[in-house]
Amino acid sequence: MTIQLGDTAPDFTAETTEGRLSLHEYLGESWGILFSHPADFTPVCTTELGDFARRKDDFAARNTKLIGVSVDSVESHRGWSADIAETQGHGLNYPLIGDEARAVANLYGMIHPKAIETATVRTVFVIGPDKKVKLTLTYPANVGRNVDELLRVLDALQLSSQYAVSTPVNWTDGEDVIISPAVSDDDAKEQFPKGFRTLKPYLRLTPQPNR
Ligand code: BEZ
Repeated sequence: MTIQLGDTAPDFTAETTEGRLSLHEYLGESWGILFSHPADFTPVCTTELGDFARRKDDFAARNTKLIGVSVDSVESHRGWSADIAETQGHGLNYPLIGDEARAVANLYGMIHPKAIETATVRTVFVIGPDKKVKLTLTYPANVGRNVDELLRVLDALQLSSQYAVSTPVNWTDGEDVIISPAVSDDDAKEQFPKGFRTLKPYLRLTPQPNR
């Protein structure tokens, strides 16, 4: 079954490079990013997992924990981490699940047989502190992900979880945001004391409220 936005992220227990853990317990009160990569000792994956490691503090600043998965073994992940450290400057510093039996991969629908029959594609599941799936991304094997984009969507998701706002096209942290059309002008004056400008009744912009 496809996991959809708003679903509870299915819990599981798995062996990882940091020992056996359960997803929900590992995440605790944090936000989480569960992501898959196709295979250890492959070029694009090496750059991606190294950059996820390099940016760990940026994820932590957003109260977000990382956890990766592929159908390789934990032993393979550990050996590969040395290559990642050597070539990218940062080895694994978050748990990587060894999913040879494909339990997690199948639970999350990470194997897309028409793309790759035997391995996970590049999926991303952003999970909120309530354990609900907030955002998903799926990339093919030959396109590496963009860590800045993951941080950007975390900023957007976290902002809109605190205020009645949405983020416009190409928004980045610090830029104006859109007031929800469900908020009346009178309520908007109270909720957004920095003011707002009305381009259309359904398109009102306000400075980012938490800055
Ligand atoms: C890569 O990471 O470069 C890769 C992995 C699996 C298939 C193709 C490319």
